[in-house]
Amino acid sequence: MKKSFFTNSGTEADDTAIHAAKTATGRHEIVVLRHSYSGRSATALSAMGHSTWRPLPAQVAGFVHARAPYCYRCPFKLTYPECGLACANDIEELIMTTTTGEIAAFMAEPILGVGGFIVPPPGYFERAVEITRKHGGLFIADEVQTAWGRTGDKWFAIEHWDVQPDIITSAKGLGNGVPLGITVATPEVADKYPGLTFSTFGGNPVSMAAALAVIRVIEEEDLKRNAAEVGAYLRQRLEELKQKYTVIGDVRGLGLMQGVELVRDRETKEPAPEAVVKVFEETKRQRVLIGKGGLYGNVIRTGLMLNSTKDHVDEMIAAMDAGLATV
Ligand SMILES: Cc1ncc(COP(=O)(O)O)c(C=O)c1O
Repeated sequence: MKKSFFTNSGTEADDTAIHAAKTATGRHEIVVLRHSYSGRSATALSAMGHSTWRPLPAQVAGFVHARAPYCYRCPFKLTYPECGLACANDIEELIMTTTTGEIAAFMAEPILGVGGFIVPPPGYFERAVEITRKHGGLFIADEVQTAWGRTGDKWFAIEHWDVQPDIITSAKGLGNGVPLGITVATPEVADKYPGLTFSTFGGNPVSMAAALAVIRVIEEEDLKRNAAEVGAYLRQRLEELKQKYTVIGDVRGLGLMQGVELVRDRETKEPAPEAVVKVFEETKRQRVLIGKGGLYGNVIRTGLMLNSTKDHVDEMIAAMDAGLATV
């Protein structure tokens, strides 16, 4: 992928990718995932798979929503790997039954962020993308949350699977505080983008200088490696909390993108959003701010900075431990 278009947000990056995929293929239907998030425009709101963030019914036609690769709450009540990747295989039936049979793209987050840090199982993207290409579609990896080393060792989270996207979108960590969205595509896709287009502030010098500085620091300080190492330590400490507190149903993630799903009962997996709120009251008291997400609002999303140390992890874990003790 060599050609980029710069905008101001992840929403615009996704909109640009969707537009590019439609014009490059001449097709209009797009497979997206349930539990996904893609932004605030009419197109992005129609694409997302999350009622919490969708105030109106879909206004843009053509999106079909595939079952999420959510192993902890498998939509087919199966277990990996005996499942045979049923969620990926189902995309074929989805295309054959709810579209014209020929799609423009499959757009997915390598880890579903807002959806609660859902990590697809090994082999998922290989199978899903194979089906996508069989039906004429491009693969768009929405890396708005997952790129720039966040998941450890790799620039992009999709590199943890053996697939090549046709388009990648990103934002957030690239600007690291300044507004910047990017859509990068293969020349074959980008060159078919029709007519003239521009974005007033897209690619402005301040945002671009910030992004170059971010990339330079990630390289110079070896932060991809740091995210893998400190992320592994974070994971180990979260697993220890899981041993201690039955309210923790699942710990999952890659690198410094680790989530903790809270449940009322480990057998029934009934979501415990009220427990997350209680944990947050205590962590906030200890001046540690943590995010939450998931369709049921019951997933704690840790968002440590890329240059975090094990001491930062210990500080956060201590606050979470105190919070969990109050539940
Ligand atoms: C995966 C994903 N895509 C797109 C977006 C939209 O980005 P923005 O809020 O910058 O418009 C987000 C925002 O959280 C996101 O997580």
